[in-house]
Amino acid sequence: MIIAPSLLAANFLCLEKQCEELLKHQLTWLHYDVMDGYFVPNHSFGADILKQLKQKFPFFYDVHLMVSQPKIFIEFYKTIADVITIHIEACSHPQEAIELLKKIRSYGIKAGLSIKPKTSVEMIESCLPFCDLVLVMSVEPGFGGQSFMMDSLDKVKQLKELKIKHDFDYMIQIDGGINQETAKLADAAGVENCVIGSALFKDFPSQLGVYR
Ligand code: DX5
Ligand code: ZN
Repeated sequence: MIIAPSLLAANFLCLEKQCEELLKHQLTWLHYDVMDGYFVPNHSFGADILKQLKQKFPFFYDVHLMVSQPKIFIEFYKTIADVITIHIEACSHPQEAIELLKKIRSYGIKAGLSIKPKTSVEMIESCLPFCDLVLVMSVEPGFGGQSFMMDSLDKVKQLKELKIKHDFDYMIQIDGGINQETAKLADAAGVENCVIGSALFKDFPSQLGVYR
């Protein structure tokens, strides 16, 4: 199981130290939530912060685009992200998502596609051959610290079955309300990558060893 710490929950007053601690604990992914205030009712960071982080820390930068114009934002992150995940709900049609996933891959980086809690797996079925990562949101996107939605696990199981059946390559990631308990449930359902925000950064760094 890969753990992707979510920068949104970090303490920005001691960010450098926290990044060092993550790497010291072999937590090499960094989940970077980009929010535009339209797709979700919140606003987070722009690309300049990621550029600065990248100069200093060798993370695998996992950019989660919660934006209504993914096409524009992909361009901001194409040279600094290792994986860019877009939302199907921000696309007018699954074919548009496929075009964007292909575009992301054309930049030599991994392409991810995410579904919000009310979106079914069927909605993205035609896109799955073009995904390196599929992100199941287990809370409504926009804010950290929310409670895990159990029915997201059914979607994980469905995605795992499809992956096996069609021999797809994507990694199944889950994001929202992950803690020690829900991480175990996610693991049992077939999740390969857990984004963890508040549960990891509260009482920092005592929780780091738990998820290693
Ligand atoms: C929420 C973000 C998450 C968030 C998770 O919209 O996509 O990545 O940081 O935070 P927790 O783990 O606190 O739910
Ligand atoms: Zn996220």
